[in-house]
Amino acid sequence: ADGEGSGLRTPIVAVLGHVDHGKTSLLDKIRGSAVIEGEAGAITQHIGATAVPLDVISELAGSLIDPSDFDLPGLLFIDTPGHHSFSTLRARGGALADIAVLVVDVNDGFQPQTLEALDILKRTQTPFVVAANKIDTTPGWNPQEDAPTLRTIDAQSDRAENTLNQRLYEIIGELSENGFSADMYWRVQDFRGNIGVVPVSALTGEGVPDLLTVLMGLSQRYMKEDMEVNLSGPGAGTVLEVKEERGFGTTLDVVLYDGVVRTDDTIVVGGKNEPIVTEVRALLQPRPLAEIRTEKRFEQVEEVTAAAGVKIAAPDLDDAIAGAPVRVARGRPVEEVVAAVEAEL
Ligand code: GTP
Ligand code: MG
Repeated sequence: ADGEGSGLRTPIVAVLGHVDHGKTSLLDKIRGSAVIEGEAGAITQHIGATAVPLDVISELAGSLIDPSDFDLPGLLFIDTPGHHSFSTLRARGGALADIAVLVVDVNDGFQPQTLEALDILKRTQTPFVVAANKIDTTPGWNPQEDAPTLRTIDAQSDRAENTLNQRLYEIIGELSENGFSADMYWRVQDFRGNIGVVPVSALTGEGVPDLLTVLMGLSQRYMKEDMEVNLSGPGAGTVLEVKEERGFGTTLDVVLYDGVVRTDDTIVVGGKNEPIVTEVRALLQPRPLAEIRTEKRFEQVEEVTAAAGVKIAAPDLDDAIAGAPVRVARGRPVEEVVAAVEAEL
């Protein structure tokens, strides 16, 4: 990306929902890799970040997207775990997000962590869409690999279509009971006032073109002003995880949401007792479409521009805490930045 002056950063998209409703599978389908197979017990235990550039989104969305309609660089997806014990990780992911996808299994409907995710979205006022997942499990379904929603619905028997509609209207009803007016996404005009429901299958890829199109459209239409940032200003981010990395000691997995971070920058990180002031020794980035959580071979880079997932290696990070802010001190007195980090803790 261009590192100079103002520009548009990548919107951050949190993927939230109940355990096993298909969050990781959906991202997996999007990035075309098999992260799910590397996961212990198929439960996502950590937040990960995946950058998907606009050209990849455009390829997946096919005829639904004209890439020249967009000037945002792509989408940065944050996967979150649905298991009930990981509520702080969900809250962290939700708070970081510009927009969100709430994944709901069409068979299972609303479950405790679906409601918890809705609360997070309500509290943080994050615009979101609902991915009504696993439509391929509808009895009598005739799968249309990677097809847009309306085309796949056209290919179904009346009976299968009716069963699916019934399930989708249950989800719309649940949303309404929770104070959100919602409809099938193709009937929604204003995505801020109404929640669009996108029927998808992470297994067959049906509806994935629609989901990406809606997310890009939502970001471009309503988030663009928020995305206009000083891309060369001092970086700001949130620590997702504190991790040992062979050859680098204790490192931070960070989602950078503003500005730029460079090797040798002085950074201030929230710590157990007090903010830690240290210097960036190395910046490790997963390659595009790779997933920071599973990526083993990082590329060492000189600078990283928001929004991005990045691993920061620096001395004295042992007391850093997950969820804490990270700020680059460039051009400002360190004490000022320490005070800002303290205020955020
Ligand atoms: P946690 O990270 O544990 O919260 O779960 P998750 O929401 O990431 O669910 P995951 O992607 O691990 O999927 C759970 C199970 O549902 C797996 O066995 C998937 O293969 C299956 N699954 C996910 N999406 C679909 C789908 O669209 N159709 C079908 N038939 N199965 C799916
Ligand atoms: Mg998962």
